[in-house]
Amino acid sequence: MKTGQASIASAGDPVGRDYRLTGERAKQAVRLGLTDAEWYRPPIDPDRLRELMTRRNGPAIRDTALWLALLVASGVLAYLALGSWWAVPAFAVYGALYGGAADPRWHENGHGTAFKTRWPNDVVYALASFMLLREPTLWRWSHVRHHSDTIIVGRDPEISFPRPFRFRSVLPNYLNLISGPRMLLRIGQHALGRIDEDTREFVPEEELPRVVREARVFVVILGAVVVWCLATVSIVPLLFVGLPSFYGVWLVWFFAITQHAGLNEDVLDHRYSTRTVYMNPVFRFLYLNMNYHLEHHLFPSVPYHALPALHEEVKQHLPAPKTSMFDAYKEIVLALRMQRRNPDWEIPGREVPEDAGYRINGTRASSRSLATSMAVAAGLESRTDLGPADIVMPGQVTRIDIEDHTYALYRTRRNAYALTDGICTHGSADLSTGHLDDCIIECPKHNGRFNVLTGEPVRRPAKIPLATYPVEVVDGRLLVALRGSGPQPAAAGS
Ligand code: FES
Repeated sequence: MKTGQASIASAGDPVGRDYRLTGERAKQAVRLGLTDAEWYRPPIDPDRLRELMTRRNGPAIRDTALWLALLVASGVLAYLALGSWWAVPAFAVYGALYGGAADPRWHENGHGTAFKTRWPNDVVYALASFMLLREPTLWRWSHVRHHSDTIIVGRDPEISFPRPFRFRSVLPNYLNLISGPRMLLRIGQHALGRIDEDTREFVPEEELPRVVREARVFVVILGAVVVWCLATVSIVPLLFVGLPSFYGVWLVWFFAITQHAGLNEDVLDHRYSTRTVYMNPVFRFLYLNMNYHLEHHLFPSVPYHALPALHEEVKQHLPAPKTSMFDAYKEIVLALRMQRRNPDWEIPGREVPEDAGYRINGTRASSRSLATSMAVAAGLESRTDLGPADIVMPGQVTRIDIEDHTYALYRTRRNAYALTDGICTHGSADLSTGHLDDCIIECPKHNGRFNVLTGEPVRRPAKIPLATYPVEVVDGRLLVALRGSGPQPAAAGS
């Protein structure tokens, strides 16, 4: 068995696997340590990774503006063509841009990595969430879980191709006739304040009122469109708002099937569960480079526009990508057919290079501990000498282990030093491998963010502040008061 390979997939479920978040397989996954576990990451030069994680507004402004322009243009054409057959292709394009191309925009902006500036990410995320009938807060937390427990049966709420796969569900799925009505029903229930068990499973209690408020906004907007239809005795308003979330969804499935379908479940190495596929530039625009899906799961802090470059950096550590959509579909259809007969069947010949990689999760102590080299500054017994001031460069973060405690030492672009606990308070990620933008550190695992000067969380899923320790530069050395730091608290979980 290779590192991270399946440990419960072979348990075999007679009828099909139990994908419920509250079912037996969910409990089994917890027992077997498959939740919020350590994941493989390929080795990469830290400076290069830092470069790749850099955020830019330019590409996202260009790609968002082009998407919206195409959406409006196809909508205008569809309106002008009403009453003729030309309306069919016009609505097909409009629907694909609305209910299909919104998906990668929802995804990238949900990670907060599309734009450098924060608010456009939130605006586009909210818009795309509505277009896809995805309640923003609920789906934000659902996606956090997807990244923590990728394709872990009973834990990942976003497994779209369960084993055994029912081929007769393809057409209804491509028209959103299975998930769509369920999502509408759930929105209606949430608007009434009734929260289902699955939602409670991964959305924190304190976020539930927000789920209710958002569901009510969705109901109001959709209700207004329905009233408009009734008032004008016409279905046209719904063809523009509401129904594209059904007839345009085929594009979501067309791309999304390539991400994980047919690959291993219950593994702790994304290289077994996630696929990269080469696509042409048009597809890559529509899909916002999510065809580099394996790279995205390995480094969720790298924005979509840098994924092709990231792929070049790490591809020798990854299985060979599929060379085209056709190549990917060939593998997927074979796997889904075989797994229909035998849910434990796995794709043969998927070569995954053997290497240790590096770990994203933090540890409490390390052989690299500075404890032995540390000196307590003369006359400053209560302070610890972390070393020379250039131990960390402007705009960078470094990890420091002292006895049983991991810290992250930051130096902002304006040369302010800060020291915080080094392990994210949401999960177990090592913050020193995250993206530092002035005084904001972004966790490498779920894109949660903290202000390093105050420790305050500034972006979900991070909610609990980081402990901070004042750093002083004395004679070119960094001195810090670590009193009371003690062992780090357990992670808060997702
Ligand atoms: S581990 Fe989830 S945001 Fe840090």
